[in-house]
Amino acid sequence: MQRRQALHALFGSAIIAAASIGHVYAADAQPFKIGFILPMTGQSASTGKQIEAAIKLYMAQNGSAVAGRKIELTIKDDGGVADTTRRIAQEMVVNDKIDVLAGFGLTPLAFATAPIATQSKTPMVVTAAATSAITEQSPYIVRTSFTLPQVTVPIADWAAKNGIKKVVTFVADYGPGLDAEKFFKSQFTLDGGQVVGEIRTPLKSPDFAPFLQKLADLKPDAVFVFLPSGQGAAFMKQFGERGLDKSGIRLIATGDVTDDDQLNDMGDVALGVVNSHHYSAAHPSAMNKKFVAAFEAANKFRPNFMAVAGYDGMHLIYNALAATKGKGGGDALLAAMKGQVFESPRGQILIDAQTRDIVQDVYIRKVERVPAMGNQLFNVEFDVQKAVKDPAKVK
Ligand code: DHB
Repeated sequence: MQRRQALHALFGSAIIAAASIGHVYAADAQPFKIGFILPMTGQSASTGKQIEAAIKLYMAQNGSAVAGRKIELTIKDDGGVADTTRRIAQEMVVNDKIDVLAGFGLTPLAFATAPIATQSKTPMVVTAAATSAITEQSPYIVRTSFTLPQVTVPIADWAAKNGIKKVVTFVADYGPGLDAEKFFKSQFTLDGGQVVGEIRTPLKSPDFAPFLQKLADLKPDAVFVFLPSGQGAAFMKQFGERGLDKSGIRLIATGDVTDDDQLNDMGDVALGVVNSHHYSAAHPSAMNKKFVAAFEAANKFRPNFMAVAGYDGMHLIYNALAATKGKGGGDALLAAMKGQVFESPRGQILIDAQTRDIVQDVYIRKVERVPAMGNQLFNVEFDVQKAVKDPAKVK
């Protein structure tokens, strides 16, 4: 009897101990919350659609738990309006106790959120916006997209080496456009070329007609264009309608204009456009082929550079959480994000530990109809500048 009571006491307390371990474990294993703020409606809705599809694909492929922590993903629509982004970020941080903020489809949206990341010590992973100065707005910002100076300098070099002497720049009139304008001019001038006109178009619902007329009057050898994702098709259409594609003015651009999200619908006017960017859906690596096939199977549309930055943003966050053995914490996560190197569908990428900005290869591509890929239009890579650091941050 005594012995049985002793056993009972032993097992009883063992059960209590097990239960309390279980309890402690459960309390420890709060879900890890990732809050994406994206433009799912409005002029930049394609950016939200692409990034949402990519992060869902990433989770389908890699599971929804890291180091024992369940990943809880929230996606909220800011409509591309900075005040809304800021309000959502505030709610996510204060009410939802989010662990990581991510997304930011346009530069002003990232700028509006930066102070919240700083005050709350929350890592803020920028997976879209591309003005160089964004990463300087908060020590908690890390970027997986790109910067305009990074993708602009290579096309300026290419133009100068390929007989283009006089260029008009044609950019959207806000952060990334002004970066593109400035860095094209400085590099092209250094390379011996001349910028003979600078045209800026409004960010909101632009009608390109009057600006294209001005361009036609200036008669440069080439026009260098940057417009944000979503505007390329309208630009190409008007460029073609005015016969500018047959006017002898060569069109060169950043890959934002020959965006994979719209490229295949642009038609022949886009053929032969030489442009520079960090991602093409036709990038011929094994990893990219698998990524594109899985993405298209899940979504019925082609991934673009926004999708890839979202996919890599998730990988960066998963890696950082794993490095903290599931503990998380703003400063620990941030430290674990700095210096990460991994293979992306675009090629190898590095998060520079000093600047928290991305270092990546930038490709020179030409728009071609590719018989081996369903006769569709693609940006076909033919040259590369390796491991390009944001030129605005190279001292
Ligand atoms: C930005 C937005 C884009 O759609 C793009 O292609 C490049 C830059 C931006 O607002 O930073």
